[in-house]
Amino acid sequence: MIKKAVIPAAGLGTRFLPATKATPKEMLPVVDKPAIQYVVEEAAAAGLSDVLMITGRNKRPLEDHFDRNYELESALTRKGDAERLLKVQESSELATMHYVRQGDPRGLGHAVLCAEPHVGDEPFAVLLGDDLIDPRDPLLARMIEVQGREGGSVVALMEVDPEQVHLYGCAAAEATGDPDVVRITGLVEKPDPADAPSNLAVIGRYVLDPSVFGVLKRTEPGRGGEIQLTDALQELAGDEKIGGPVHGVVFDGRRYDTGDRGDYLRAIVGLACEREDLGPGFRAWLRHFVTDEMAGD
Ligand code: UTP
Repeated sequence: MIKKAVIPAAGLGTRFLPATKATPKEMLPVVDKPAIQYVVEEAAAAGLSDVLMITGRNKRPLEDHFDRNYELESALTRKGDAERLLKVQESSELATMHYVRQGDPRGLGHAVLCAEPHVGDEPFAVLLGDDLIDPRDPLLARMIEVQGREGGSVVALMEVDPEQVHLYGCAAAEATGDPDVVRITGLVEKPDPADAPSNLAVIGRYVLDPSVFGVLKRTEPGRGGEIQLTDALQELAGDEKIGGPVHGVVFDGRRYDTGDRGDYLRAIVGLACEREDLGPGFRAWLRHFVTDEMAGD
């Protein structure tokens, strides 16, 4: 049974400057919730009640958001505003939260390695703090199911335009009996499109065998001078004796990289349209905006 989720959120968020100069990118609101709350809700919905967040300097608001805020709670109680009180309390009741600081952001692989003392010797999930999977398209539960059946590690994959493959880790893969599951034979971080083994991109959800820690300890800095999780997974995929096979679940739902400005805007529009409270009015405005204001484009 997988119980622990690790959420790396120590990155600098340079693509979103200046907004992220003093505010973590994970705290930017998507409609009316910080992006990171969707990620913790996703972990909780998949049954992962123990969450370790990898943070760093300037990331204190993340800890505050998942803690109680008694001042706000008593003010709302005095006003009799039960609806907003519930919203304030919700985030502190999702999961048991733990935090560890990464010190120096030396890459995603290094961030995952910081989780070793907490995770110990059991399989665990990793959810990138800036990757938002639409709650209507569950992915993690399927990955946990595949890991339970096949053992080893499981990564999430998405088909992308071949021109975009240089932005992601990219997988060489073989089909299995399941249409949405592949067996990974190789992985390469941000390849040139000409060298890419496929258009299957690794997205920010993983279920990992704990043997990945041993591999990460000896993984040299790779692309961008960072310790890359992809490089450690490549080693696992190349030698099953280390920690079992690596499979991929091919996801075709809605996913947004909230660290990217364009995708962040798409996330807000996509999720706002579906909201019961805001959706009808927002959709009507959007229709008008697209047909009238942008008619000449
Ligand atoms: P990104 O590649 O999005 O890097 O990291 P970043 O630094 O956050 O953002 P930009 O590119 O400067 O805008 C992917 C995920 O890995 C985490 C990030 O927080 C994000 O969730 N990460 C990355 C760490 O936790 N530590 C690191 O050293 C690097």
